[in-house]
Amino acid sequence: MKNIWNSTTKDLVKKYVAYRIPAIRDLVFPRYRYSIDPAQLAFLVNGIESTKETGGGVVLEIGVSWGQTSVFLLEHLRSTQSQRPVVLIDTFEGFVESSMRYEVAHRGKKKADIDQFRYCSPAIFEHNLRRLGYDNFEVIVGDCCEVDYEAIGPIAVALLDVDLYLPTKYTLDKLWPHVAPGGSVLVDDCIQGTEWDGALQAYSEFIKSHDMPFVQVGSKGGALTKCR
Ligand SMILES: C[S@@+](CC[C@H](N)C(=O)[O-])C[C@H]1O[C@@H](n2cnc3c(N)ncnc32)[C@H](O)[C@@H]1O
Repeated sequence: MKNIWNSTTKDLVKKYVAYRIPAIRDLVFPRYRYSIDPAQLAFLVNGIESTKETGGGVVLEIGVSWGQTSVFLLEHLRSTQSQRPVVLIDTFEGFVESSMRYEVAHRGKKKADIDQFRYCSPAIFEHNLRRLGYDNFEVIVGDCCEVDYEAIGPIAVALLDVDLYLPTKYTLDKLWPHVAPGGSVLVDDCIQGTEWDGALQAYSEFIKSHDMPFVQVGSKGGALTKCR
């Protein structure tokens, strides 16, 4: 008689049972793991693809936290057989004190509400990405306002996700001259009435001073694209 209790059947039974045990089911339930919208992720992918023919350029994420979006960007490049460099910048210690002080003194925020992201570690962050097999990235540890963007090279696509007014404002000013023609920057948290609406203020001031339109991406992305 044929053995119907083969490994495929056993696997199926295991999954059937696990899916019905609440403690296990809760660990693996499907959920959205990104802190930015699907439309923002799509914008970044389109930005990477549309700059391919013009020689590429660096893909940049400023403010990386645990690395969910970093993995998304690296996986997109891997799945398209691209070795384009990805540069990932964070303090890995949360917001710098002067930026938080500004939010409290000038933007009516409470420090307790905005003092987040202190738990990260660049060593664990990098280890996690290498464990997934990625090697076309560089991690820069430090304040994004002090990074030399010219040394990084022409920037094809950047996600600027540092939430508060001052780092968003200073970084936009420093970064923009090094964005390649046809390249783009996506600023997260361009939405009014949240703890992170400093990003919206900085983005709004930037587009006003450069005579550019407000381009909303998803529910909270603000985009900038450089003319070719
Ligand atoms: C909202 S999280 C980034 C989320 C990430 N982009 C993602 O999609 O998963 C904001 C990050 O910005 C970092 N950050 C805040 N101010 C910074 C600064 N001045 N320079 C560098 N990183 C900063 C914080 O440490 C934190 O990890």
